Formats: sequence, structure tokens, C-alpha cells
Amino acid sequence: MTLLSLCTTEMIISAASALRSGQLVAFPTETVYGLGADASHQSAIARLYETKGRPADHPLIVHIASLDGMGEWARDIPEYAITLARDFWPGPMTLVLKRSELAQDFITGGQDTVGLRVPAHPIALALIKEFISQGGAGIAAPSANRFGAVSPTTASAVEEELSQYLLPNDLILDGGPCLVGVESTIIDCTGPAPMILRLGAITPLMVEESTGLLALESNPAAIRVSGSLNSHYSPKAKVLLDVVAQSGDGLIAPDQIPTPNGVVRLSAPSSIEEYARELYLALRKADQLGLEVVVVLQPGGDGLAAAIRDRLQRSAFIE
Ligand code: TXA
Ligand code: MG
Repeated sequence: MTLLSLCTTEMIISAASALRSGQLVAFPTETVYGLGADASHQSAIARLYETKGRPADHPLIVHIASLDGMGEWARDIPEYAITLARDFWPGPMTLVLKRSELAQDFITGGQDTVGLRVPAHPIALALIKEFISQGGAGIAAPSANRFGAVSPTTASAVEEELSQYLLPNDLILDGGPCLVGVESTIIDCTGPAPMILRLGAITPLMVEESTGLLALESNPAAIRVSGSLNSHYSPKAKVLLDVVAQSGDGLIAPDQIPTPNGVVRLSAPSSIEEYARELYLALRKADQLGLEVVVVLQPGGDGLAAAIRDRLQRSAFIE
């Protein structure tokens, strides 16, 4: 595995051709880092699952360059999905649509739908565009962490997660820290109205304002979104929510909350955006420091705060 910093055009070209020949390339997006593979290359996708340690029936998001890709990968696209794509792509939003024959079972976990996203990070977009110009159709990319662990928001976090599982020809592209910090909003667009499957920076209110339709709530039992399993987004440390931190614990809390004596402050965000941006790095830091317990004071409010609480509740320790 090679880590490439300060990505040049030449590096993007060779990363795209590495993908075309079946290698894995981790790359930055504005949400979290993804571990990319050619979405049409069955053995590359098999290795992607193996590298993540992820069950093969969990579908992958296909990363595309524009609305054109949506027409190739999906069929029976409702008008409101096109409206959402026009309003929020490139951006932190994944649309689940009925799949075309391009989306094979090894991408969709055998489901009749496919998840599509146009990411907003310049390196991601450059990579996808170059990959398409080399004859590719889309880059499948789950978050670049081992199954169940915290998503990486820096290239060094990807290295820490996956270096022992990647092969010598695989690549990690360093595009700096992710600007959003939590995974994309996932919206099921296979029914008469949008249904939010995973909360993120594109909020239900934004979806409603864009489409003029009521955004429905998901029924987690009925869908296969690995982020909706319990014990996800988890560091090794126990995450305790909204309790008083004891000496030796880590603490993640808004900046106006003081740090009690003997407590290790991991993050003190002054805005909800900063909270999202720093959260996963702070959870990782807890493990690097070998802390046993991290206390997290959850942010109040809706929008991005609700997405943060959703992740925290899944990462929290439940007896
Ligand atoms: O922000 C993100 O979405 C990041 C970046 C790299 O794009 N990707 C990401 O991928 O979070 P992943 O695989 O870690 O999480 C994607 C979630 C999974 O829980 C998967 O089950 C769900 O999306 N998903 C993908 N395709 C789906 C489909 N057709 N129907 C329902 N859920 C789907
Ligand atoms: Mg993930």
C-alpha cells in the first residue's frame, strides 16, 4: 500500500488505472474517506469486502460523476430524485434507486436497488471523472474502516484502520481532513416519496423543501443498511452518553462545558459543524491514548445534530 499526498494529475491518472486493474484505492470525500474499487470488477469487489471484513450481503454505494451516471446505474427514476440530485449533488447525499443491469448482485447485496452518490471533494470528483474517461462506470466505496469501527476522516486514520489488510499495489490518496465528518444522508427513492434511511448533513427539512414532499422515516428492520445495526461506529473504548466524566475518562462535549479534573478532553467543538468534523477523530484519539471510557455529551437540536446523535447512540456501550 502506498500513501499519496499532494495529489497531482499524474497521481489521479495512475490511481484511476489502479482501480481499473482491480486494485483498491482509498480516497477522501467531504463526508468520510471511502475505500474504492471498480464497481463492475467482481474480484476487486470481493477483495473490498474482505479488506473491510464486511458481510457480502451489505450493499455498497456507487460513486459517480454526475446525473448522467444516475441514468446509467438506475431505472424508473422518480422526478423527486432528479430534483434532489440537482439540488444536492455533488454533496453528502446518497440516493437509493431501482437498479439497472449495470448494478450487479455483487454491488447491491442481491437487492433490486442501488445506492448512488456524487461526492463533493475535488480529489474524489477528479478520480471518478478520470476513472470514467478510462472506461469505468462507477467507483464502489464504503467508508474506509473495518466493519463496525469508526469511519476515518483523515488519510492517517485510513492507514491505521486498513494498512495491515491492504496489498502493496493498493493506494491511499490524502486529501486532508474531511469537511463534514459524518457519512452521507441516505434517501430511499423507490417509493412515492423520499424516505430517509440514514441521517446526515442533508437534513429531512432540506429534502422536504427541495422536493415539496414529506420525507418519511425509515423502518430500520425492513432495510439492509449496515449503519443501522447496533454496535456500529464503535471505538474500543466504552462510549457513555450524557453522564458525568470521571478522572481518567475521555470527554467529548461542546466548548462551553468545562473539563473536570483528571479528565482527558478529546474535543471541545464550538459549533455543530465542528462537532461533526471532529467526532470520529476524537473517538480514535481515545483508542490511541488507550482510554477505557469516553463520555460524550450529545448536542441538542435537529439537522446535523440529529445525525450526530444517531451515530453516537450506535457507538454507545449498551450493557
Ligand atoms: O458518506 C458516505 O456515504 C461514505 C462515503 C465514502 O461516500 N460511504 C459510506 O459507505 O458510508 P458505507 O458502505 O460505509 O455505508 C453505506 C450504507 C451501508 O450501510 C449500506 O448498507 C447502505 O449504505 N446502502 C448501500 N446501498 C444500499 C441500498 N441499495 N439499499 C439500502 N441501503 C444501502
Ligand atoms: Mg461505513
